[in-house]
Amino acid sequence: MSSPATTAMTTPAVRIAPSLLSCDFARIAEGVASAEAAGADWLHVDVMDGHFVPNISIGPPVVAAIARVASVPLDVHLMISEPARYAQAFVEAGAHTLTFHREVAGDVAEARDICAALRAAGAPRVGLAVNPDTPVTGLEDLLAELDMVLIMSVFPGFGGQDFMAEVLPKVTWLRDAGFSGDIEMDGGIDEKTLPLCAAAGANVLVSGSALFGAPDMGAAVRQYRAAATEFLALGSGGA
Ligand code: DX5
Ligand code: ZN
Repeated sequence: MSSPATTAMTTPAVRIAPSLLSCDFARIAEGVASAEAAGADWLHVDVMDGHFVPNISIGPPVVAAIARVASVPLDVHLMISEPARYAQAFVEAGAHTLTFHREVAGDVAEARDICAALRAAGAPRVGLAVNPDTPVTGLEDLLAELDMVLIMSVFPGFGGQDFMAEVLPKVTWLRDAGFSGDIEMDGGIDEKTLPLCAAAGANVLVSGSALFGAPDMGAAVRQYRAAATEFLALGSGGA
């Protein structure tokens, strides 16, 4: 990041990723269609195992069903204790990005092994998620192997929680460390908190309850995209 021109070329594109956790599970295809009609770049798919997080959501068969009706890439957030064990099933189901949690690995070496296992299983892209109380310091040597880092802005497990602004310095740290891949934020993102995320350098914005609860989802996605583009350029992600 030696010059603004260089940084501008390497700043990743804004991606708005509605979280299907907030759609009506009896009508997932309608949720997919409405998110795509609203302009979603990716669909965020939350997989919970009732072990890593205290909630159970969906598994590979449902991800495959989503893939059958989706046109945009599936951003699969694995909140599960054994991501390597299930990686191939999620790849075969149609995942585009597979993101696992740092907390399931004992140390960074183990996280590296999981990353390799996900790639060996055929994951087109691999992301690493960190909970609000997990630091990003110490990940320096792993960053080159990651397509994306997901900074959780709530403790994972449930939609509709309040945004935790105290995690924002982790985004800034990653950009300052030279990470030019995707930085995603997830949890409590709405029109008020999204600008903070983008100003810190996050370019992938997940939103569940705010987007699916919006009176006009298309207008909300357009507003998110405009704000993300503006604040990403103003903040450390573009300066
Ligand atoms: C939480 C999930 C999120 C959730 C976000 O554990 O990882 O993706 O769906 O929902 P909101 O935007 O309502 O916080
Ligand atoms: Zn998520």
